[in-house]
Amino acid sequence: MNVKSEFVDALASVLKGNLPNDTIKSLIEKPKSEEHGDLAFPCFQLARTWKTAPPYIAVEVASKLQSPMIEKVKAVGPYVNVFLKKELVSENVLKEVVEKGSHYGHHSAGQGKNAVFDFSSPNIAKPFSMGHLRSTIIGQSLANLAEKNGYQPVRVNHLGDWGTQFGKLMSAYTRWGFEEEVQQAPIPSLMRYYVRFHEEADNDPSLLDEGRAWFKKLEEGDSKATELWTWFKEESLKEFEKVYQLLGITFDYVQGESFYNDKMEAVVAELGKKGLLTVSEGAHVVKVGEEKPPCLIKKTDGTTLYATRDLAAAIYRQQTFNFSKCIYVVGAEQQLHFQQIVHVLAQMGYSWAKEMVHVPFGLILKNGKKMSTRKGKIVLLEDVLTDAITRASSNIAEKNPSLTAKEEVAKDVGVGAVIFHDLKNERMNSVEFNLKHMLTFEGETGPYVQYTHARAMSILRKAESYNGEVRGLGDEASWIVIKELMNFPEVTKRAWENYEPSVMAKYLLALSSAFNKYYGKVKILNSDAELSSRLILTKAVVIVLKEGLRLLGMKAPNRM
Ligand code: ARG
Repeated sequence: MNVKSEFVDALASVLKGNLPNDTIKSLIEKPKSEEHGDLAFPCFQLARTWKTAPPYIAVEVASKLQSPMIEKVKAVGPYVNVFLKKELVSENVLKEVVEKGSHYGHHSAGQGKNAVFDFSSPNIAKPFSMGHLRSTIIGQSLANLAEKNGYQPVRVNHLGDWGTQFGKLMSAYTRWGFEEEVQQAPIPSLMRYYVRFHEEADNDPSLLDEGRAWFKKLEEGDSKATELWTWFKEESLKEFEKVYQLLGITFDYVQGESFYNDKMEAVVAELGKKGLLTVSEGAHVVKVGEEKPPCLIKKTDGTTLYATRDLAAAIYRQQTFNFSKCIYVVGAEQQLHFQQIVHVLAQMGYSWAKEMVHVPFGLILKNGKKMSTRKGKIVLLEDVLTDAITRASSNIAEKNPSLTAKEEVAKDVGVGAVIFHDLKNERMNSVEFNLKHMLTFEGETGPYVQYTHARAMSILRKAESYNGEVRGLGDEASWIVIKELMNFPEVTKRAWENYEPSVMAKYLLALSSAFNKYYGKVKILNSDAELSSRLILTKAVVIVLKEGLRLLGMKAPNRM
């Protein structure tokens, strides 16, 4: 029995087709305060068909509403407020969570459908930036949420491994580079050459031509250029891999921009054939309406662009994965780029272009300013994560020195702190980066949620045995926890539909806080008739916290 659908059915039989069930469901709210009830139904929408004021409708509906789950109905102004039968409902909820285990909250909306996630996608020969960190963390979580909603996620790393900048880098390397330097510290060294290139090009613009020439050679398959490029790429990937390992991220495909080299000519030809290409100042472009700048397809010298590769990638993905959604987790500054891509594909006649979604996000700030990886001011992400782990580790040494598997726990907590700190914010908001803050066990942090999970686990360990019999719990303290547990399926759905992992992160904070209050008020391990039910409740909290954390891309250590 699902509590909310029971309520929907009960309302539907009173409303007799005045509102479709889906609408009823979407209208149901949580009353403003606990004393007002457990669920509320606003009657504003009915006013037009019933030609009566909402408060009268509320009284009418309240008088007729019936369900075995409902204890009491009250009309309060335009709302029908319902008090549920705590014992009956809690018994049902607990049974459902424990029976389904980690499957609880699963939906089948995406059954049989593929969803491509284009995320992380750092640029080789450059540091893994804070922006790429956000894309990685948000993308990973969205792919998990998609899976929870029945989709088959396809995780793609669209590595930035092609483009004129690599011509510049080759020119810089052949002028000032040393093999040993690159081997020792690949990314900082390559960055240095690249920065120097731009500095020197300010005085000597002919360098830019040299850079362009190198890239042209690369696009034509020149062996020296290819060799250098391959080397830069391999060294960069080794560095990125360290970050992915720490974050526990894997991709189904690492298909960088270069993967589309042999697929672009066909796209350019198709654009030509469909009459969409125009020549503008020597370059080939596709017009994108009156307001927006045209989409650049080919430069004057015949080399291709970022957009050309994205067009080829989208077409390739549709052909290969037959996606029902293709989601790009990329910073908000690329909004125009994705609008152009979608527009061009739509003009090409591809109806699936509307299933491409750009999921943007805000910046990471340090003391209110954008945390920059450019201009030589490098923050290596690997260092940030290791720093978080070290701090988590000294936290543990202080609070729980006898803990076993300390290192693993420190890693789960340190990395989890960074992930949670990002995901608890609505993704369009900027995130202030503050390691110390992230790692505290109090307040709205990852460690707080993980700690709640570990605390619940330790209660279960202490319980010698329990017979597993579930009887409903009727007290106020457990009711708050039960109501949170009841919300989980809706949260998995909403977080996915809004592409908003923060919905899940905030939920986990609410559930943690409810359980911690419960823990403070009730002696869970007291041996009385309800012991078993309380332990089942604790177990249900463990299940949901662990699954919720997993959906965010975090671990739930059993001890902390
Ligand atoms: N490498 C790009 C950047 O760092 C992000 C790529 C995003 N994905 C895409 N298909 N364009 O800006």
